[in-house]
Amino acid sequence: MSEKNNRPNLKIESNLPIRTTGIETERERKNFTDLPPQNYVHVWWARRPTPATRLAVLSSVLPDTVDDDTLLKWMGIDPSNKPKDVSISEHVRKKKRTKSDASGPVYEHYGYRKTWKQTPSQKTLNDIHSTARETWGGELPTVLDATAGGGSIPFESIRYGFPTVANELNPVASVILKAVLEHPRVNGDLSKEIEKWGEEINERAREELSEFYPSKQSEKPLEYLWAHTVTCPDCGLDVPLAPNWCLDKESAREGTAVRPNINDSEDAVEFEVVELPKDVEKSEYNPTDGSVSRGKGTCPRCSVTIEGDEIKEQAQNKDLGYQLYAVHAARRSSGKRSEKYFRSPSEEDMNAFQEASELVSNDVDLSTFLNEEIPTGSKTDEPRRYGITEWRDMFSPRQLLAHWTYLQKYEEVKGQIQEEYPESEANAILTYLAIAADKALDYNCRLSMWDSTVPKLAHLFTRHDFAFAWSFAESNLIAEGLGYEWVLENSLKAYRDFYDLSGQSDAPIEVLQGDASSLDISPESVQAVVLDPPYYDNVMYSELSDFFYVWLREYLGDIYPEFFASELTDKQSEAVANPAKFDDIAGGSSKGDLAKQDYEDKMTDIFQEMHRVLDDGGVFTLMFTHKKTEAWDTLTKSLIEAGFAVKSTHPVSTESPLSLHQAGKNAAESTILLASEKREEREEYTLWSDVKETTREVARQKAQELDQQGIEFTKVDMVLASFGPTLRVFTEKYPVVDDEGEEIRPQKALDEARAAVSDYLIENYLNEGVKQVDSKTEWYILSWLVFEAQRFPYDEARRLAIGVGEDLDSLKKEHRMWRKRSGDVLLRPHEDRVQDINKSSENRSGRKPVDPEALSFALALDKVHAAMHIYNAKGATTAWNWLNDRNCGSDPQFKATLEALLRILPHDNNDWEIARDLAAGETGELLDLELESDIFQEEEEGEEGQKTLTDEF
Ligand SMILES: C[S@@+](CC[C@H](N)C(=O)[O-])C[C@H]1O[C@@H](n2cnc3c(N)ncnc32)[C@H](O)[C@@H]1O
Repeated sequence: MSEKNNRPNLKIESNLPIRTTGIETERERKNFTDLPPQNYVHVWWARRPTPATRLAVLSSVLPDTVDDDTLLKWMGIDPSNKPKDVSISEHVRKKKRTKSDASGPVYEHYGYRKTWKQTPSQKTLNDIHSTARETWGGELPTVLDATAGGGSIPFESIRYGFPTVANELNPVASVILKAVLEHPRVNGDLSKEIEKWGEEINERAREELSEFYPSKQSEKPLEYLWAHTVTCPDCGLDVPLAPNWCLDKESAREGTAVRPNINDSEDAVEFEVVELPKDVEKSEYNPTDGSVSRGKGTCPRCSVTIEGDEIKEQAQNKDLGYQLYAVHAARRSSGKRSEKYFRSPSEEDMNAFQEASELVSNDVDLSTFLNEEIPTGSKTDEPRRYGITEWRDMFSPRQLLAHWTYLQKYEEVKGQIQEEYPESEANAILTYLAIAADKALDYNCRLSMWDSTVPKLAHLFTRHDFAFAWSFAESNLIAEGLGYEWVLENSLKAYRDFYDLSGQSDAPIEVLQGDASSLDISPESVQAVVLDPPYYDNVMYSELSDFFYVWLREYLGDIYPEFFASELTDKQSEAVANPAKFDDIAGGSSKGDLAKQDYEDKMTDIFQEMHRVLDDGGVFTLMFTHKKTEAWDTLTKSLIEAGFAVKSTHPVSTESPLSLHQAGKNAAESTILLASEKREEREEYTLWSDVKETTREVARQKAQELDQQGIEFTKVDMVLASFGPTLRVFTEKYPVVDDEGEEIRPQKALDEARAAVSDYLIENYLNEGVKQVDSKTEWYILSWLVFEAQRFPYDEARRLAIGVGEDLDSLKKEHRMWRKRSGDVLLRPHEDRVQDINKSSENRSGRKPVDPEALSFALALDKVHAAMHIYNAKGATTAWNWLNDRNCGSDPQFKATLEALLRILPHDNNDWEIARDLAAGETGELLDLELESDIFQEEEEGEEGQKTLTDEF
C-alpha cells in the first residue's frame, strides 16, 4: 500500500510523551482491584499495561505531525481540570506531584479516568482514522501482534478501529484471545446467558457434591486448610508439614492460629484454634515456627529432623498424606451479616473427605481421569520431585472430584446450549463457562496456598512456577458467594467489561493460532507490527499453561478442535530459552547455552517473518521490558539479520528519580518501545572508526534534548532513549567492521551511547574535575549518578565498568566498592570500606581495604571515605587535622569526589550527611569547595503517607 518514501515520518520515530504515559501506567497498576479485564479474565503472564500499549499502537500508525497533547487526548488522557495555558504532560506531572495534598477520588484529582476505562468517542475515531488514512495511502493500516498472549495489544488496536491480526502459538492463550477479541464484540452482551447456564451447572454440581462438603444451617465451610503429611522415620508419626501455623494476618500479634498437639493414644497430631495475645513474645506459643523449613521437616513428637531427601522419597512413592488443620467458615446469626471464623477440623469433615477419596478411587472414569504424565521440564520438575507426576496429582482427591463434577455438569448442558443458540453465541457462552472453570482450578489445587496476611486463598499462579506447597487451601466450590459462584461472577464481569469496552468496534479481527515464524498471512499485507515477544527464560508459557490445557481440552476440544489436536502445548516451537528442551543432548555446550541460542534463533526467525508480512513502508514496533543490557545487543542483532534498521527507542518508565531514591533500588523495569523499519540492503562495509563518533554524538544530543525538556526523567531513561539514535546510525550503516575486518556487534555502539550520556551527565550535573579522578572512583560516582539508587542490576554495573575500563569483579574483591544482593549490585557506603580507627590495628577488620591512618591513598574514593570515617568517629577538629595533614584542601581529586558525592547521594543517606558536614564549618573552610547553596537544601517530599485520595471506581 504505502511506498516507503511517500509516507510521512511516524510519531514513534520522533519524541513521545513517555513520562506522562509512565505515570498513567503506574496509575493502572497501582490498584489491584481495579484492573482492565484482560488482567483478570484468565491467568496469562506478562500482560502489557493499557497506556504503554496505546502509545505503541497509535504512535506506530500516526504521523509525527500529531503533537503530544493531541496524541495524549486520543489515548484517553484528556484532563477536564487542566488550565488552558498548560500542556497535558505538564498537568499530569503536576497532578502526580500533588497527589499527597489532594482528597476525593483519584480520577477527579487527575481530571480523567484511567485510560483502559475510556473508549474513544466517534469523533476521536474519525480524527484518528482520517489522519491514519492520510499517512497510509488512503486506507486504514493493519496492525499485527504475532505473539499476542492475553491480547492487550490487539484489544487496544480494535478499540481504535484498526484492522487487526492477533496470532499466538499457545492454545490456552488462543482461547483467551477468542474470549477477549471476538466473542463479546461479535455476539453482543451474553452475560445474562452465561450467568443462567453457569447457575444451572452450579445447581446440578451442588446437588451431587453437597454430601462431600457437610454444612449446617448455622455454618457454611468456605475453605479447608490442609497440610501434606510425611511419616516420621523415627517414631512413625504422620507429621503435618507447614512453614507456619498462622491463620490470619494478625496472628503474629493478636490473631488466630492453630496449635498442633500430640495425641499419643491416637498416635496423631490434633489441631486446636487459638487466639493469640497482643504481644506474641509473651505467649509461650509462636505459630510462625512451623514444622518445615528450608525443605526439611521436624517431627513434633520426637523432634527428629526429617531430611529433604526422605520427604521427596516418600512423595515420589505417593506416600504423602493430607491432614486438615483448620476450617474457615461463615456463621450467620439472625438478622446480622455473616461472620467468618476458623475452627478445628471435626470428624465429620474428615469422613466427608474420606468418602470423596474412596469415590475417586472406585469410580471407573474418575480413577483414571487426567492420568497423563506431566512431562519433565524447567518448571514441572519441581512438582514432579514431590510426587506430582500426573496432571490429576495437582489436586487432592476431593478437589479432583469437585472439578470433575463441574465438568460433567458442563457437558450435560453443553448440548442444550448448542441447540438453543446460534453457533457463535453457543461458543461464546461455552468459552466463558470454561474460563470460569479454569479460574476454579487455579484457586483450588494442591499448590494454592492460604495467605494468612490477608487472610484469603492465594491462587497457584501468584508466581510464574509450580512451587510445591507444604500446606494448601481447598476452596469449597459449592459455597454460597464464593467458590464457583465467585469464579462465575468473575467470568461474567470480564464478558461485560469486554463488551462495554469494545462492543461498538466493527474493526475486522483475525485470530490465528500458530508459530509466529510462519504465519498464514500474505506478504507485505501489514502496515504496523506491534510485538511483545517472550523474553529468554522469563516465563515458561507452555509448561505452565499445560495445567489449564489438559482441562480446556476436555471443555473446549470440540469447540476449537484446531487448538486441541495435540496432547499438550507446543514446547518445540516456543520462543523461550528453556534448558529442559536440551536434556537429551550431550556435547560440548551447556544446556543453558543451547537454550539461549535456540531462543535467539527463534527470535530471528520470527523477525524474518515480520519482515515478510510487513509492507515496505511499514513499521515494526517491539515492546519489551528492559531487564538486561545484553538483551539490547541480541535484539538488535536479530533485527539487523532479519533486514530491519532501528529508528528510535522510548523507555516508558513508571519511575521518577524521587521514587528511585525512596526505594533505594533501580530495578530498571521500564517498558521499552523500539521502532524499526525495513533496511536498505548495503553491499559495502562501514568502518567502525567512521561511525563511532556519530554514534556518540547522536546519543549525547538525545540526552541533552530530554534533559532540556525539564521533565523528571531518570538518568537510566536518558541512557535508554539515547540507544535509539545510536542504533539508528549503526543499523543504517550495517555491516560495520573494525580495521581487521571483524564484525562489530551492536553492543559496541551501545557502549558508546552509554559513555556519551555519562559524559553529558558529568558535565551538567557534576564538576569537570570528576573527569580527572581515577577510573575506579569514577565508576562509583557514575553508578550513583546514573542509577540514582544504591542498588541496581549487575549487568548494568558491568557495562558501566567496561565503559571506564574497569573490571566489575575486581572493584568488588579488591576494593569492596559493592556487594551482591539477589543478583543486583549494592554500592557500599564508607563504613563498609574503612577500618575502625577506634580499634587497635590488630583488631581491625582485614576485609576492609581502607586504612584511615594512611597518609596516602590509592583511590580518591578511599581518601574521601577515610575522611568521612574520621569525621564521624572523631569529630570536626580531628577531621580538620587529618585533612590538613593530607593536603586535602589542595587535592583536586579529593575535592571533586567529595563534591560529586554531595551532588549525587540522596539526602537521607548517611554518607551524604557526613559529606555535608565535612563541606561545612571549619573543615569546609579548609576544603573551600565551590558549591551552590541549593546543594544543602532538603529534597522534595515524596508521596509516601498520602492517605486522602480514594481509589477510582
Ligand atoms: C510477553 S508474552 C505476550 C503478552 C501479551 N502482550 C499480553 O499483554 O498479554 C509473549 C507470548 O509469546 C508467545 N509465544 C512464544 N513463542 C511463540 C511463537 N513461536 N509463536 C507465537 N507466539 C509465541 C507466548 O506463548 C506468550 O504468550
